[in-house]
Amino acid sequence: MCNNCNLNLDTERTDDFGQKLLQIVNHSGLSLMISIGHRARLFDIMSEMEHATSSQIAEQAGLNERYVREWLGAMVTGGIIEYDPVLKTYFLPPEHAALLTRAAGPNNFATTMQWFSLLGTVEDKIVNCFQEGGGVPYSEFARFHEVMAEDSYNTVVCGLFEHILPLAPGLEEKLKSGIDVLDIGCGSGLALIEMAAAFPESRFTGYDISEESIGRAQASAAERGLTNITFQVQDVSQINQPEAFDVITAFDVIHDQAQPAEVLNQVNAALKPGGQFLMQDIAASSHVEKNLDNPLAPMFYTISTMHCMTVSLAQGGAGLGTCWGKELACEMLQTAGFEKVDVQELPHDIMNYFYTTTKAA
Ligand SMILES: C[S@@+](CC[C@H](N)C(=O)[O-])C[C@H]1O[C@@H](n2cnc3c(N)ncnc32)[C@H](O)[C@@H]1O
Repeated sequence: MCNNCNLNLDTERTDDFGQKLLQIVNHSGLSLMISIGHRARLFDIMSEMEHATSSQIAEQAGLNERYVREWLGAMVTGGIIEYDPVLKTYFLPPEHAALLTRAAGPNNFATTMQWFSLLGTVEDKIVNCFQEGGGVPYSEFARFHEVMAEDSYNTVVCGLFEHILPLAPGLEEKLKSGIDVLDIGCGSGLALIEMAAAFPESRFTGYDISEESIGRAQASAAERGLTNITFQVQDVSQINQPEAFDVITAFDVIHDQAQPAEVLNQVNAALKPGGQFLMQDIAASSHVEKNLDNPLAPMFYTISTMHCMTVSLAQGGAGLGTCWGKELACEMLQTAGFEKVDVQELPHDIMNYFYTTTKAA
């Protein structure tokens, strides 16, 4: 006899929940398969093909037909790719390609799917943290900086000039005339590189604690032949450069810091009087009950548990987590000396808030 048989269960509610779990099982599988389709470039290739057999697709992609056919099975039954059982041909509808290919840019959901397989690689260590406390350090996450660069290309670089920079009053004019800009936790430096190329009169500095990402950033800047940009391995909780910069940016950086309050203090100290701070961070509330209607909240808390919170706790840090939220972010910015903080949202980016604030002159 099952444990629940004597309980007075609302069977309709249990059935509904069972349906939801069934969907989760299938959708979890599909997220892994979509990630593979992205990495193996199958969506990109199929978006340029008419109806084709698995052999034709595999040949075009230079991949093993048996694996491609099994992947196609998941895609067809998951409603992502269409199948003609008579001709045995597969087709990626253009409406789906518009959300799954590299050509889709910021609309490419397949980039985001990579996080789940990437985070799955540390599951054993995270389960151990549930028992022992502590955290899993950045160094344990293979491919983190590669996937982060792809992701932030979509969310930051694609909207940088049209949407993000205009959020800070007067910033573009200052960049044109020539100012000093620092990007903290710059990762692979893609946003800063685009700014350096667009505003040759200004000087750009990128700091990150990761040697791997700074190496990637330096290589990309050299490839572009830029001379107004410098990347340096630097812990941003120890910037220690008083009044050195006109503008400081932080794209998706503060919530996973070991010492976020100290980083914000350092940012305030490193700005010249009247200098601007532009911070992109996750669009969430600090209160779980206010995140119930947030369409991405379960993903945010997942990524937090498996990366953002744990990398901070691994350093004995604050462990703010991805959903530190707007309320706490504003409070911490004010404590760091930023009196007035504007929080804005952009239609192209449902994942982030954009905080702009100015150091008192
Ligand atoms: C979520 S990633 C964002 C990277 C980049 N801003 C982007 O949008 O692609 C956070 C970055 O902060 C860096 N980071 C974490 N702690 C740091 C610290 N104390 N000092 C400098 N960088 C740090 C990480 O190495 C990582 O590259």
